[in-house]
Amino acid sequence: MKQNMHILVTGGAGYIGSHTVVELINSGKIPVIVDDFRNSDPRIIKGVEEIVQQKVIFKKVDVCDLNAMRKVFEEYSFDGIIHFAAYKAVGESVQEPLMYYNNNLNSLLVCLMLAKEFEVKNFLFSSSCTVYGEPESSPVVTEESPVLEANSPYGATKQMCERILADTTKSGTNIKVLNLRYFNPIGAHHSGFIGELPIGRPNNLLPYLTQTGAGILEELTVFGSDYNTDDGTCVRDYIHVSDLADAHVKGVDWLMKQEGVFNEVVNIGTGHGASVLEIIHTFEKVANLKLNWKFGERRAGDVEKIYADASKAKSLLNWTANRTMEDAIRDAWNWEQKWRNETTDNH
Ligand code: NAD
Ligand code: WQD
Repeated sequence: MKQNMHILVTGGAGYIGSHTVVELINSGKIPVIVDDFRNSDPRIIKGVEEIVQQKVIFKKVDVCDLNAMRKVFEEYSFDGIIHFAAYKAVGESVQEPLMYYNNNLNSLLVCLMLAKEFEVKNFLFSSSCTVYGEPESSPVVTEESPVLEANSPYGATKQMCERILADTTKSGTNIKVLNLRYFNPIGAHHSGFIGELPIGRPNNLLPYLTQTGAGILEELTVFGSDYNTDDGTCVRDYIHVSDLADAHVKGVDWLMKQEGVFNEVVNIGTGHGASVLEIIHTFEKVANLKLNWKFGERRAGDVEKIYADASKAKSLLNWTANRTMEDAIRDAWNWEQKWRNETTDNH
């Protein structure tokens, strides 16, 4: 395999992107990060540089800007593209559907048009378990499970992007596509230099929980106590973000070795479900404190129970999750404290 491969990483200053950049560098690749910090911060790039002890290549560009992106493609000869840049908040997408369709579809279209023009053959796309909606029979979803009507504009953008990628591979281009459908990424780099940025009031469980633990938010509400699960709370497949980052390195390596043109889909999860109460109890154990929480109403649109059948990731990419839920929660808590201590301007 060619040494010093250049990989375009759109959204590489973001939560999953920054952890992936670290693992790409650890595996000897050269990531070229494109991000405009609309949902990140230059301090994340500094954090990456702190971890890898080298400067990284960074371009502050809007991925939807075709001409600006063409300049990036002219400057580097890319061996592959990992496309993270998108908006990701389910609730916000219901309020601002046009903003979501505009950014999530156009950023993909720009990357794909340039991949075709500059003959970049390897394309990895950030998809999501949200494409499965509420599983019909079993909570365990395989890549063959039906993709149901999306219950949010965000989910619809992921389905549409997968469709655009599938159509592109059928159209005579040379682009090989790998869609990774992530389950629930949590945690942070164990160094505490990078993690999920606390911009605005969090919607996701882990940042809400760590901010409650840190006393920034008063109380965590557990959405629903009467689900048909062991303890009555929803079940998800929580995966450490560094394991997810490793999956991207394995994904890029796998893509490079493949011949022909295809559109492949792989679930990236641990294969195990955990309930909201299990997460809270694990947090209380690792942080050694009592969390302020209460039961509340169910949240509209929540799926009762879903987790990945992750066997295809193992057989195809030789990837499995190595870190535990406890590791992830400990790392998230370490990040929360480190970020607060080092930041006076917390957005
Ligand atoms: P994030 O918001 O932390 O990262 C996205 C990054 O993209 C941000 O740094 C943002 O500034 C950048 N960005 C967005 N639009 C841009 C544009 N037009 N030009 C330049 N930069 C732009 O989100 P994340 O959690 O790291 O998610 C990354 C990808 O993974 C997204 O596509 C998301 O939909 C997908 N995903 C996330 C989750 C999750 O729970 N975090 C789960 C499944 C899939
Ligand atoms: C997890 C669990 C909540 C907050 C979302 C997207 C999905 C994917 C991953 C991008 C649920 C409960 C939460 C709180 C709670 N993202 N909860 N109190 O909804 O599983 O998935 O992120 O693709 O598409 O929908 O993640 O972290 O919001 O919730 O009780 O304050 O925690 O009800 O059971 P979700 P989440």
